[in-house]
Amino acid sequence: MLSKRAQNLKPSPTLAIAAKAKELAAQGHAVLSLSVGEPDWDTFPAIKDAGCHAIQAGQTKYSPANGTPQLRTAIAHKTQAQLGVDFKPTEVVVGAGAKFILFAALQMLVDPGDEVLIPAPYWVSYPTMVELADGVPVIVPSDELTGFKAHATAFEKKITPKTKVMLLNSPNNPTGQMYTRAEIEDIVKFMRRHPNLTVISDDIYNELVFEGDKVAPHILHVAPDLKERVLVVNSASKTYSMTGWRLGWALGDEKLVKAIANYQSQSVSCAAPFTQTATLAALQQCDADVARGVELLRKRRDLFVEALNQVPGWRAGYPQGAFYVWADIRALLGRNWHGKRLETSADVATALLESQYVAVVPGGESGLEGYLRLSFALGEVDLNEAVRRIRLFTDGLD
Ligand SMILES: Cc1ncc(COP(=O)(O)O)c(C=O)c1O
Repeated sequence: MLSKRAQNLKPSPTLAIAAKAKELAAQGHAVLSLSVGEPDWDTFPAIKDAGCHAIQAGQTKYSPANGTPQLRTAIAHKTQAQLGVDFKPTEVVVGAGAKFILFAALQMLVDPGDEVLIPAPYWVSYPTMVELADGVPVIVPSDELTGFKAHATAFEKKITPKTKVMLLNSPNNPTGQMYTRAEIEDIVKFMRRHPNLTVISDDIYNELVFEGDKVAPHILHVAPDLKERVLVVNSASKTYSMTGWRLGWALGDEKLVKAIANYQSQSVSCAAPFTQTATLAALQQCDADVARGVELLRKRRDLFVEALNQVPGWRAGYPQGAFYVWADIRALLGRNWHGKRLETSADVATALLESQYVAVVPGGESGLEGYLRLSFALGEVDLNEAVRRIRLFTDGLD
């Protein structure tokens, strides 16, 4: 009964851990979830107020498929201020979360057999999204030596005449690593050598940065003339703690942006209009809230990384952005937990959850074995408790 597409569709790989964590919590265990992909604080009050007022005022019907003109104009202004490049509201499309925008963008760019360069470690959804567009995900590896960032030379090794798109995500999920301006300059040179390549720049964490300028270095900072070849994707989810509101956007070449809007009009129709009004308030009124959130994350990052590095066998660098620590647990592989040999990051994540009720994301799912992703978007008490349990778990390994 099911299509080939359905048969090949892999469920979200983090689902098994999340389901197990829920099951243990339902049994009454005090599960600490370091696997979440969202800030632990609520959506900021000005946003909630604007959303409630919008509902009361009757903004409860379809909106234009590409988003309201007010929101598209505000997004164009904000992005212009961040990246230094002019955008017209017609070069903006608003959708139901960056996830759907990315999905739709790949549907609109990729023909069967086209290759898409995905730097590893990657956000778990990218390869599947490419496959759902009948494209071929081409993983571009990185490791500790390259700072967990795929550089221009690595992309050069993987590009072929079939390469159509390249995905970039900086700061990165799962590593929290951010490309420097010099590294971006190399990527720009690479783009100039390959004029048919389109880049999807997933900037969803670009304001949650702990080093350098307020906004992560970007291709368009270096090369504004490449505007037509870069699809800038962003979202209200992480910056404004609005993950449940489902609001993302893209800016770029007008034809591509229009195609994404058409695709949306034939699938999910539009983002909810009251969510769009709430996001307008976010863009216009919440800079100070975002700055406070970044400071809080920075404090937690420092506390968490320092504490984690005290645990024998665990090694973590300081992420420059987002809210994830990418912990090297290769020293634990080959050790035994209750007679079971830990072979992979998934084995370690499962054992940690079952023994100490700490949920983390195995790095193997992101294309690099031997690492775990731990979110530090948690209160300090919980972070300290998580490290205490991680130590107990590690001490208990044979
Ligand atoms: C790298 C990356 N891109 C996109 C998304 C999707 O965000 P949204 O909530 O806007 O769909 C996420 C969410 O976890 C993410 O980590």
